[in-house]
Parts: sequence; C-alpha cells; structure tokens
Amino acid sequence: MSCAHGLALDAFETAFSVDTSAIVFGRGALTELGEQARALGVKRVALFTDPILAGLPFFETARNSLRSAAIEVLVYDRVKVEPTDASFLDAADFAKREAPDGYVSVGGGSVIDTCKAAALYATYPAPFLAYVNAPIGEGRAIPGPLPPHIACPTTSGTGSECTAIAVCDILALATKTGIAGKRLRPSLALIDPTCTATLPASVVAASGFDVLCHALESFTARPFTARLKPDRPASRPLSQGRNAWSDLGSLEALRLAGKYLVRAVNDASDAEAREQLSWAATLAGIAFGNAGVHLPHAMAYAVAGLVRDFKMPGYPDEEPMVPHGVSVVVNAPSVFRWTSSACAQRHLDAATHLGADTRDAPLEDAGRVLADHVASLMRATHVPNGLTGVGYSAADLDALADRAALQKRLCDNAPRPVSKGDLRALFDGALTCW
Ligand SMILES: [Fe+2]
Repeated sequence: MSCAHGLALDAFETAFSVDTSAIVFGRGALTELGEQARALGVKRVALFTDPILAGLPFFETARNSLRSAAIEVLVYDRVKVEPTDASFLDAADFAKREAPDGYVSVGGGSVIDTCKAAALYATYPAPFLAYVNAPIGEGRAIPGPLPPHIACPTTSGTGSECTAIAVCDILALATKTGIAGKRLRPSLALIDPTCTATLPASVVAASGFDVLCHALESFTARPFTARLKPDRPASRPLSQGRNAWSDLGSLEALRLAGKYLVRAVNDASDAEAREQLSWAATLAGIAFGNAGVHLPHAMAYAVAGLVRDFKMPGYPDEEPMVPHGVSVVVNAPSVFRWTSSACAQRHLDAATHLGADTRDAPLEDAGRVLADHVASLMRATHVPNGLTGVGYSAADLDALADRAALQKRLCDNAPRPVSKGDLRALFDGALTCW
C-alpha cells in the first residue's frame, strides 16, 4: 500500500524515543553541585560562566560546593551572551589547555551551549564547521561519549540544560545555527529556581517567551509519523516531531507560562511565579529536546543574525543584539495564524492552556485566537512589537526569508510545507504583532 506521495506506508516512522538529562529541581539545589559532580567521578572540573554572573552570589555557591567536595575548579568566565563561532572556539581552547575530566555550566543558554561546545571540541578536535548542522556545516556525528557535564541554568528560558543542541552565530555568514547530537546533552540538569530571583524584568520576559514558544512549537510540530523512518534506529533525529511524550511537557509548560509569565516579569518579588516559570522552562526544554521546534525559531535565527542597531534594556550593551526569546516570539503570532490550518484543534488547545477564553471560538479561528493571546501577553510584558519593534522594515523581508530558509531542519519540522515565498509572507505578517 502507498500514501498520496507514492511512498510505501512502511517508509514512515512508527516509533519515538524519549531522551532527557537526569534532573534535580528545587530551591537550594545548587548547594548539591559538588556532591553530584563527585558522584559522576569528576575530580578536576571546568566551570563555565559569563563575566556578569561570575560576580553574583550563586556563582560563589556553585564554586564553594565543588571545592567542598574536594574537586579542583578551573574557571572560564568569558562566555559571550549570544555566543559566536569565535567565542565557542575560545572556550574550547581553554578546555583543551586545562584538560578537565568534567564540566559545569552556571548561567543561561549561552553559557550552557558554550560549555557543550567546549567539551566537544576539546574531546574530539576538528575544524569548527565539521560538527555544525548541514547545510551550513558538515553535520559530522560526534565520535564518542563526552565527559560528564552538569548544567545549572540561571534563567528560565532556553531549556538548554535538557537538550542536545548548542546554538551560535556564524560570524562570517551573519546567521545562527547549531551543533546537534545526543552526546551533547548534559549528564545532569541541576535547576535551582532561586537563581532567577534577581533577573531584570526584560530578561525574564525574553527568556519566558522562549519557553512559551518551545512549548507552542513542540505541540504544533509535524507528528513524528510524518517523517520518513531512518535506516537505523540510531539515526533517528533529535527533532522527531510531536509525540505523546512531548505533548505532556508542552501542555503543562503552556499552562504554567500562561498563569505565571506576566507575574514573573512584572514583579521580581513574586517567588512563586519565577519558580513555576523555571519548572515550565524545564518541561518545555524536555518537550522541544524531543519533538523539535519549527518556524518561529527558524525565523529567529535570521532576526538575530541580521540585527542592525537594536539593544534590549537589561542586557549587556556593548553591541546590538536581539535576545533569543524576543527574536523568536516576534514571529510567533504570524506563524500560528498560518500553521493553524494544519492542526487547528491543537492551536485552540494551546490557546486554552495559555489562558485564552476559547469557549465560543470556532475551529477555523484557532490560529487567530492563539496569535491574539500571544500578542496580548507580549503587550503585558513590554516586549517589542514585532519586527518593527526590533529595527526591521518591509525592505528587509527578502533578506530575512533568505536566511530563515537556510534552517532546513526547523522548517521541515513545521506542520505545513513552507517555501521561501511563504517565509517572506510570514515575516511580512510579523512586522507588527498588534
Ligand atoms: Fe529557543
């Protein structure tokens, strides 16, 4: 028997796999770091962070915990926020020189991703593009296991502590891409939500919308059964497409983000909201590490890569930069209006979980209802209004669509086939969100 595309039905995937980091979650968890590292056999650890976090009390907590466990600590505190190929290589040079037997990252997604890349290039040296996703790089498989890595997130956004992906800007191409491979996944995610208590509101907003989009995109990704079966189970991709496991994490992350995101942004003293947003980030990280994200993230790589002069308050201001979560969410309303026709009920369910009143919403309106609700959350948290809000105009649509089309892995994970013309239209719809 064959399907409408002329492919045999047994050519399609029939199973999904569940992979995630081990997780320790809760207030005070960071004080366990030393014991957890020792349990993994670590004696000489490379501790990664960025220059700002290096001066904060929880970094000291992490370092002291490692030292109390009699572990030698080698600090690398030069991680760049929104890392580049050059900053990944600088971190890898440090790791090669110091030859640690384990890694700890304390920071946001930039720190955790940099630590993943440093461990990879120090353990299996290769030209930078060797491991970078095709078609930008060679997409070479990681040759063997990596030393233990304990990831301690200090923002509630990227979910990088649970994923097997490291993202960076390729400077010469002015685009973002990543390295993906199961062996990149941290051995342990140690999540202490008290680390987010002192984050500026704009950072909580940007990282919170990253969480929300991880959950929305995982929940609306194409189903894993729509992907061709790999020749061997080991070749099953990380972005498998939505499945019963990723749906669990996505829906609960949406419910929590809908309930707590605005509170967590607008009131730094609301410990319950920031803690619950941390848990939402963990769940969404597990979901998208398993299902994969799609168009808002594919488009975000172009939005971040082509930035001209935008700077976000609360972020290091040496150079223009669109924070990752903002570069994603500005595309989200436009995308979900368009993808809804592929799985309308899911778009409506997502809006319901986020807290929208969907009782009288007809199914054909699901995309608009979801888009409007996401836009209302953006307004309530003072996030820039679409592409125009981060410095783009209609004159940039072709360049943005060209860059987003390079993100083939993410585009292929969308619930509808997408052409470069579609991407241009989606960017057009993202110029403003309200
Ligand atoms: Fe993201």
